Amino acid sequence: MPGRVNLIGEHIDYHNLAVLPMALGRRIDIHFSRRDDALVHAVSAEYGERAFSLNEALEPGPDGDWANYVKAAARAAQWKWQLTRGVDMQVSSDLPAAAGLSSSSALLTACTLALLEANGVHASFEELMEVLPEGEHFVGTRGGGMDHAAVLGARSGCALLVEFAPVRASAVRMPPEWSFFVAHSLSHAEKSGAMREAYNSRRRAGTQGLEEMGFTSFRQALDTYGPAELRKLAGRLPEDERLCFLHVAEEALRVRAAARAMESGDAEEFGRLLYQSHESLRDQLRVSNAALDRLVEAAQQSGALGARLTGAGFGGCAVVFCLQGDRERIRRGIEERFYGGVAGGHLIEAAPSAGALELAAIAASKPDSAS
Ligand code: GLA
Repeated sequence: MPGRVNLIGEHIDYHNLAVLPMALGRRIDIHFSRRDDALVHAVSAEYGERAFSLNEALEPGPDGDWANYVKAAARAAQWKWQLTRGVDMQVSSDLPAAAGLSSSSALLTACTLALLEANGVHASFEELMEVLPEGEHFVGTRGGGMDHAAVLGARSGCALLVEFAPVRASAVRMPPEWSFFVAHSLSHAEKSGAMREAYNSRRRAGTQGLEEMGFTSFRQALDTYGPAELRKLAGRLPEDERLCFLHVAEEALRVRAAARAMESGDAEEFGRLLYQSHESLRDQLRVSNAALDRLVEAAQQSGALGARLTGAGFGGCAVVFCLQGDRERIRRGIEERFYGGVAGGHLIEAAPSAGALELAAIAASKPDSAS
């Protein structure tokens, strides 16, 4: 199960607005075998061993416990499909945790697919999208469906334009000379810990702003007014609501423009939109931090066409965009400016990779493992 990096469209999926992520080559692997009873027994060399039964009333354990994602998977799958068989699973990963690369959704999705496979259930993309984002709410974050859509539906060589309500994923071919890095800010975003409330508060403020302006959805607002009119109308909202509302509306327009720029191979425009997205996340939504801002600045000073924080923010990673021919120069620039010389594993190449459904189609000959 790959991680994902969101190229653009941040903090808008939960308002049912389209986003543009891609899957990474880094991933979580689950090797599992089906059990005859209902026990789910999960082992991670890094995080330890957990066990529970599909028949018990599942309650989340302490905040941040990795078993919560395994339980969330079981709850999500149980809600739609009656599962009777548990699994023995071994989880391994080369995907950094708490970096905004969706390791948690990758784990939840991988565990769900393992449980379904063990019970002989073959679910479609749409069916999985019905249960996975809901399932993740069990862990406490009211995120949207971007992460699950990306880790499931991404296509190699492409970004994935994910629309919601109804959910739809379309591959956007990436020009082959385009190149991305994911760079860690060396500050950590613990989604299941303290950050959760900050994340949820941005969602609430955006929704309140929308309702106070009399709209029923962001799509309705964007279909009715242009950006300048929306900015004017939002002027009467309390500051927090106004800033969150404007970030969401403007970011949605940037996603549309970015998908068009990718389709037409306009790298400069795509990069400019990434920088604008970061500024809005920093100044309007206020989900950046000093380390992420310095990192984006280091990328800009090194000549990157675009860079922005990626994922929920509050720490974690930035995505950096350049052309293939410039990548070594830009990598060295970021290493010197941000990492003091050597970035090691903190700066990774992000090539547009296959999602789980494409991987499963390739590995259909290995029915006893999912990844
Ligand atoms: C987290 C959530 C996603 C999305 C991003 C912000 O990664 O899981 O659904 O809301 O934050 O864009």
